[in-house]
Amino acid sequence: MTVNKGILAIALIAAAGAASYWSYGSTTAQAAGTGPTYTSDGKLVLPKNYRDWTFIGATVTPNALNGGKAGFPEFHNVYVEASKLAAYRKTGVFPEGTILVKELALLRNPKHEDGSADEASGRGFFEGSFNGLDVTVKDSKRYGKTGNWGFFNFGHHALPYESAAKEASKEECAGCHMGGAGKTDLTWIQFYPIMTAKN
Ligand code: HEC
Repeated sequence: MTVNKGILAIALIAAAGAASYWSYGSTTAQAAGTGPTYTSDGKLVLPKNYRDWTFIGATVTPNALNGGKAGFPEFHNVYVEASKLAAYRKTGVFPEGTILVKELALLRNPKHEDGSADEASGRGFFEGSFNGLDVTVKDSKRYGKTGNWGFFNFGHHALPYESAAKEASKEECAGCHMGGAGKTDLTWIQFYPIMTAKN
């Protein structure tokens, strides 16, 4: 391991520790979730303050690894309210009213052909500006036909996003989640170790 990689690993471990302290240490503030709200014509209102929720993971599927055209070439930053995360850890299912937010973040200053950049920690992929928002809402009454979850897209572009979004079709969203993540409450929890780690 080079010195740089060692420092990065230590920084990552420290950051993970701080993140889990934060998610446990501030439950009062974070538990004050309001659940989903809807417009009078049934659109989901853009969730508020989701960047203050618990950050559970950030997958990245860059263009360079997907024949130059990834569906979502950005980082996928995923958030859930701390109280809903705690419930999932206990029961293995999300409670009614859970909202999961996936916010896309562009690669910052892509310098090399593969979109990577050189930074103090090494060559790699770094997060730049926000570029889109996908949301899922658990509500077995409203969304029983799509595995108890509703799917919403608030735009795939720079800020600001749409203020409300109508439910996306099964073909657009739910079908893939039902097929690939049907056993884990339609959520790809295998990519979020914070959800299942024992301590
Ligand atoms: C072809 C399959 C596929 C389709 C279609 C799809 N997703 Fe996903 N979605 C995934 C995968 C795989 C992940 C986790 C890994 C990732 O983000 O790269 C994910 C993650 C998510 C997450 C984060 C929580 C989770 O379940 O892990 C949300 C929220 C989400 N998708 C919403 C949507 C919405 C809204 C649509 C439609 C506009 C949609 N998805 C369409 C495959 C899909």
